[in-house]
Amino acid sequence: MDRLEIDGPCRLQGEVRASGAKNAALPIMAASLLAAAPLRLARVPALADVRTMGRLLADLGCSVRQDESDPGGWTLDASALSSCHADYELVRTMRASILVLGPLLARLGEAEVSLPGGCAIGARPVQVHLDGLRALGAEVAVRDGYIRARAERLVGARVVMDQVSVTGTEVLLMAACLADGDTVLENAAREPEVVDLAVCLRAMGAKIRGEGTSTIQVQGVGRLGAAEHRIQPDRIETGTFLAAAALTRGQVCVRDTDPQLLEAVLRKLRLAGAALRTGADWIELDMGGKRPRAVDISTAPHPAFPTDMQAQFCALNAVAEGVGVVTENVFENRFQHVLELSRMGADIRIEHNTAVVIGREALDPAPVMATDLRASASLVIAALAAQGTTVVNRIYHLDRGYERIEDKLAGLGAAVRRVK
Ligand code: UD1
Repeated sequence: MDRLEIDGPCRLQGEVRASGAKNAALPIMAASLLAAAPLRLARVPALADVRTMGRLLADLGCSVRQDESDPGGWTLDASALSSCHADYELVRTMRASILVLGPLLARLGEAEVSLPGGCAIGARPVQVHLDGLRALGAEVAVRDGYIRARAERLVGARVVMDQVSVTGTEVLLMAACLADGDTVLENAAREPEVVDLAVCLRAMGAKIRGEGTSTIQVQGVGRLGAAEHRIQPDRIETGTFLAAAALTRGQVCVRDTDPQLLEAVLRKLRLAGAALRTGADWIELDMGGKRPRAVDISTAPHPAFPTDMQAQFCALNAVAEGVGVVTENVFENRFQHVLELSRMGADIRIEHNTAVVIGREALDPAPVMATDLRASASLVIAALAAQGTTVVNRIYHLDRGYERIEDKLAGLGAAVRRVK
């Protein structure tokens, strides 16, 4: 299994380009199943999860082609969609496979999708997805580890979601596009990735209003057609590089990104003492060589501070001046990085869903490993501030969500090696 060796400490300096967003690419790839026509995508990130989604779509009978000239260019054509069965073998490796549930049901009148299991950061139920499909007229049962959904024709309805769920909103949004009549999704997720999906669906011919607010209105249409779409920049990857720059007292400009996607994160970086400048598609952070100040964080659905940036800010607080209180409100078990950061000398105490982080001048190198994607990222950026060589083991989680992270960090002056 691959690992990263990182020699610290270093001060990140230079420019880096953001990749396309994983969490936008996955639902948008699933949306290709809604049309019997090609969907051409640009800026699809080269990530393990994206390849898994590609395999799942191919398994269902969708033609999946990657451009030879443009590595981020994919053409997905579900004209010959032939199966409604998403198998356990693929779903178990990626929870986001649940995204195919809505499109399969809407297009074929039937879907059989393995129930995603638990995962390292909590139970992650899918009740919102299933109740919502029932509200649209589907019969839904869970048997033998599979979700089995049927509906001759989905019928538009007012759906009030019990919880704000990102993939739940996306599954229902996709299903509603081909339903008979109008659907209103209440208590919808407002995440930018939901907006990007809506933009793509609209390009395919869907009639959607209100994305980015908690009420999304969909007027069902008979069919969707061919379209082209460029995936939005990855706000979490962008935020990770900025947090890394702040923690190493560096100066970094992230290009090909969008500052409007991460306002809550930028606010916290300013409070940490960073000077920030932004343009339409770039963000520059400069610490002026200063040690960051600790910041309090409380995660919640967008537009509040994202849970996917919580671990990286634990790492930042671990070397900051002062005490930072980090409260995780979205997932019940998302502090595994804390134990590993403690092995690097971080001073962190956990009480229920809160981590109290007392900043230290520097961290110690240690062998560490992580059990989820963002936790891995926090260990990598913490290693940049450690006095010596840190080995981050089991980095396959990192490869699920960060495109060439070692090359990008090396481009900013970090000494990072991937060891096979
Ligand atoms: C998505 C993101 C993930 C991010 C998360 C929260 C993708 C592929 N993944 O995950 O990176 O961390 O949003 O921003 O986009 N819940 C219920 N019942 C449900 C559904 C969810 O109680 O039926 C709860 C979950 O347990 C969790 C919270 O709602 O506490 C948010 O979960 P959800 O938004 O569904 O996360 P995902 O869509 O799986």
